[in-house]
Amino acid sequence: MKTQVAIIGGGPAGLLLSQLLCKAGIDTVVLERQSRAHVLSRIRAGVLERGMLDLLAQAGIADRARAEGIPHDGTVLSYGAQEVRIDFKAHVDTPVTVYGQTEVTKDLYDSADANGTQVIHGVSDVVLHDLDSNTPSVTYQLDGASHRLTCDFIAGCDGFHGVSRQAIPADKRRIFEKVYPFGWLGVLSRTPPVHDELIYANSERGFALCSMRNTSLSRYYIQCRQDDHVDNWSDAAFWDELRRRIPPQHAEALVTGPSIEKSIAPLRSFVCEPMRYGRLFLCGDAAHIVPPTGAKGLNTAASDVHYLNQALRSWYADGAEAGLERYSEQALARVWKVERFSWWMTSLLHRFPDQSEFDLRMQQAELAALAATPEAQAVLARNYVGLPY
Ligand code: APR
Ligand code: PHB
Repeated sequence: MKTQVAIIGGGPAGLLLSQLLCKAGIDTVVLERQSRAHVLSRIRAGVLERGMLDLLAQAGIADRARAEGIPHDGTVLSYGAQEVRIDFKAHVDTPVTVYGQTEVTKDLYDSADANGTQVIHGVSDVVLHDLDSNTPSVTYQLDGASHRLTCDFIAGCDGFHGVSRQAIPADKRRIFEKVYPFGWLGVLSRTPPVHDELIYANSERGFALCSMRNTSLSRYYIQCRQDDHVDNWSDAAFWDELRRRIPPQHAEALVTGPSIEKSIAPLRSFVCEPMRYGRLFLCGDAAHIVPPTGAKGLNTAASDVHYLNQALRSWYADGAEAGLERYSEQALARVWKVERFSWWMTSLLHRFPDQSEFDLRMQQAELAALAATPEAQAVLARNYVGLPY
């Protein structure tokens, strides 16, 4: 089988790239390890930057996000009983849109169906070949048979645990990583959100986040031990702990209910340099991971896709190599800014096991300075709503 761009991974990065290239008449095949149902069952973050919305619009699939997504003009940071609202509208006149990643993925799959884009599910033993040639290819197993997909380019959109990053020779890639000494215990509940905006809480008992998917579906997180397990947490225990970590007026207003999803996610910062090797280009979690504190995972996959989409369109239009040559440096320049912001938000809002009394005072002083300094709030707002592509 032959295509122009082989895309490994049918998550948000792979599907979005396939739909944008399809719009330019560039043929793609998406190879996905899991079933469509499995991909759609994933519960992930739910805050879209304007850049992500614009990309969905470029692909012709922003209608539902625009109709059902909830624009947010600010967010709240609380510390103890105090809180500060970061006013996106006042500082950067740009909202974020609350719209679950699951919904984005549904919209992407609907678009792939409508466009007849090939998304092959259930592949295994995916191997990349001849990346340093002009005729790369991908072999894989499907239903007990071996297949080879020849192509011009390979987009590695297969996430942190995929095979693409590993296809770059170890001596050609450099890894940067920080694993945080805690996790996030998340609960999804069919309850009205506790507040009309997100609340990021730094409390003496640890971090908490009050988020939402819509006005009747709420998403909450509490910082938990790295080795914790969901079985250690009844719904009642979760709600009690959440109440202890958010300001009293919100704790009193909290509407609880049965969890319809409960899971623990690890937190890490991770970057692979470069994001290109020959005809292989990495996008999204395949190349970088951020702690979810800044809601940047999906949005940074989107900016990678933007750069690669532009570069591939130029190459197919007139053979221009410049975009492809510039891709890794251009994508990484924004990735590192996002890594910094996500690390900073995580360091500001979580309690670390080895934190000294001085460290705690510095965290409190940072929060107090943020609450007192409009310029500092403007910097947070600019990073949170999304840096320019
Ligand atoms: N072969 C084919 N597909 C694979 C392979 C493989 N060897 N390994 C992984 N995959 C698939 C996974 O099943 C998944 O569907 O690649 C896809 C990668 O998707 P994501 O992990 O969602 O990564 P990405 O598309 O970059 O999106 C990043 O998604 O997971 C969230 O937090 C993440 O918000 C971020 C966003
Ligand atoms: C979520 O709604 O899942 C969410 C929102 C904001 C974050 C992280 C997760 O920073």
